Amino acid sequence: MFAATPNPTNLNRRMERTLAIIKPDAVAAGHAGKIIDRILAEGFAIRAMKLVQLTRAEAEGFYAVHAARPFFGELTTFMSSAPCIPLVLEREGAVATWREVIGATNPADAAEGTIRKQFATSMGENAVHGSDSPANGVKEGRYFFPEHVIVANGADVIDA
Ligand code: RTP
Ligand code: MG
Repeated sequence: MFAATPNPTNLNRRMERTLAIIKPDAVAAGHAGKIIDRILAEGFAIRAMKLVQLTRAEAEGFYAVHAARPFFGELTTFMSSAPCIPLVLEREGAVATWREVIGATNPADAAEGTIRKQFATSMGENAVHGSDSPANGVKEGRYFFPEHVIVANGADVIDA
């Protein structure tokens, strides 16, 4: 018999989204499967995912906030150099949890057990991306995926 009330597991829960990208270095090195396993093991639901090679313009648009930084050319060349895998991840506290799981930007500073410690080879080629705020998690998800291809789960998603 179906319950007359909404699924209690989704009551009073504010699910959050973050955008993850398995960057070109990690895809090329064959680490995507292990990283996706880790995503699931950490309790994230994957709501959207695709393999895509970004154009230079798409990489520049995504990292526009860094346009004035000295590493912008290197970063956008790298991000458009080979296929990457953007994913929309969802769980409570998705942004902070994913950033904890990926570790510091520079793998030399990344904590033991983090994805960047395990797979990143340099500051520039650092295996994965994570959004830096819930608002950017939503915005960056929409940069790669129209809302209708992001699979809904019936929970109340923070749309900051
Ligand atoms: P991301 O946005 O990719 O998740 O990385 P993040 O927040 O940890 O670091 P962020 O400051 O947003 O920098 C974005 C990406 O630019 C490259 N980078 N290179 N050579 C450098 O000094 C340098 N600094 C940053 C990295 O690929 C970094 O992930
Ligand atoms: Mg960042």
